[in-house]
Amino acid sequence: MAQKQILLIVGGGVAAYKALELTRLLRKAGVGVRPILTQAGAQFVTPLSLAALAEDKVYSELFSLTDEAEMGHIQLSRSADLVVVVPATADLMAKAAHGLAGDLASTTLLATDKPVLMAPAMNVRMWEHPATKRNLATLKADGVAFVGPDDGAMACGEHGPGRMAEPAVIFEAIMGMLAGKSAPAIAQGPLAGRRAIVTAGPTAEPIDPVRYLTNRSSGKQGYAIAEALAALGCDVTLVSGPTALSAPTGVKRVQVETARQMLAACQAALPADLAVCVAAVADWRPADEGAVKIKKTGDAPPALKLVENPDILATLSAPGPARPRLVVGFAAETNDVEAYAQAKLARKGCDWIVANDVSAPGVMGGDDNTVSIVSATGVERWDKTAKSDVATRLAQRMAEALA
Ligand code: CTP
Repeated sequence: MAQKQILLIVGGGVAAYKALELTRLLRKAGVGVRPILTQAGAQFVTPLSLAALAEDKVYSELFSLTDEAEMGHIQLSRSADLVVVVPATADLMAKAAHGLAGDLASTTLLATDKPVLMAPAMNVRMWEHPATKRNLATLKADGVAFVGPDDGAMACGEHGPGRMAEPAVIFEAIMGMLAGKSAPAIAQGPLAGRRAIVTAGPTAEPIDPVRYLTNRSSGKQGYAIAEALAALGCDVTLVSGPTALSAPTGVKRVQVETARQMLAACQAALPADLAVCVAAVADWRPADEGAVKIKKTGDAPPALKLVENPDILATLSAPGPARPRLVVGFAAETNDVEAYAQAKLARKGCDWIVANDVSAPGVMGGDDNTVSIVSATGVERWDKTAKSDVATRLAQRMAEALA
């Protein structure tokens, strides 16, 4: 098969830096990238970075004598299999929706006869403005495909829809379009029609009405996975122990306290295609939850008798008609990480264990994670990265496994 070629239009927004990572992913996959950098885009990434990663010349000027002599703008607009706009700013979307052609990027979008994919990125108010909504509807009616935007924190300090989709997600959308998928299929995401259960956070096991046993889990990794799965179109039920986090948009959250409540909520959410157990479930709970507060009596301190909690991951992994097709567990270990993960995979009966080394200070409750994916086919080590990146990559992997 001949090498596929992308015409990559980089617009002017903070998210433009993600176009560099996208270019790297595409080149690694053997896809040719010919960049067009808008004047505004050049305020955020340099032509040199883009050219070096794309291994191609960067086009910026509509009225450039040398560029026009080498390749006219009409020819440029037809030279690729797909035109991708990353980030698609409110301005670029407005120009494309109205057929304006005052610069090279907009002229290319007007002149091309190839499919177009846009990854919007803008402030939440701009995204929700009726003008942008009209432009989005016009572009969709014109057959333009969209990936994202995501919901989340933005560089401008606000929160909501408008954050550009992650490069790995845009990459998948591009590969899907190059393989002939339609715009609606791309917009819905690869997990559209699938259901997932994600457990997250700690559990709290009561000792008496005022005291409980718990652990240091923040819930961040589980919440990030729930959000990443939802961004791929998945119908996600997030069963969460007590955390300080707000529910990710587009995710159904069921809040629980104890391991037994967590198991019941997971079972109530079945059937599902996918279960991801990220919660740090308390292994034991006090045998008797006193109905009244335990008081000091002056004698020896009270003995705390513990009994084992149900294993949610093992229960969901048990063979049977209700077993989700893919069951993924996590293993937080301080030593012999992969050996313990292998043993856990066998003991729990799940399909993958995402093993993370929590011996380094700052992992529990922190924003970064270093993980290995352990499955029957072997071990894959990932470099230390943000929990949100781990979530995006994992969600992508899960989508591939369920495809
Ligand atoms: N898990 C669960 N229910 C439990 C205990 C653990 O669903 N009662 C899940 C966790 O969500 C995680 C995986 O099992 O996905 C591994 O959790 P971990 O605490 O590391 O494993 P344990 O079974 O407690 O094993 P060990 O104490 O030997 O490390």
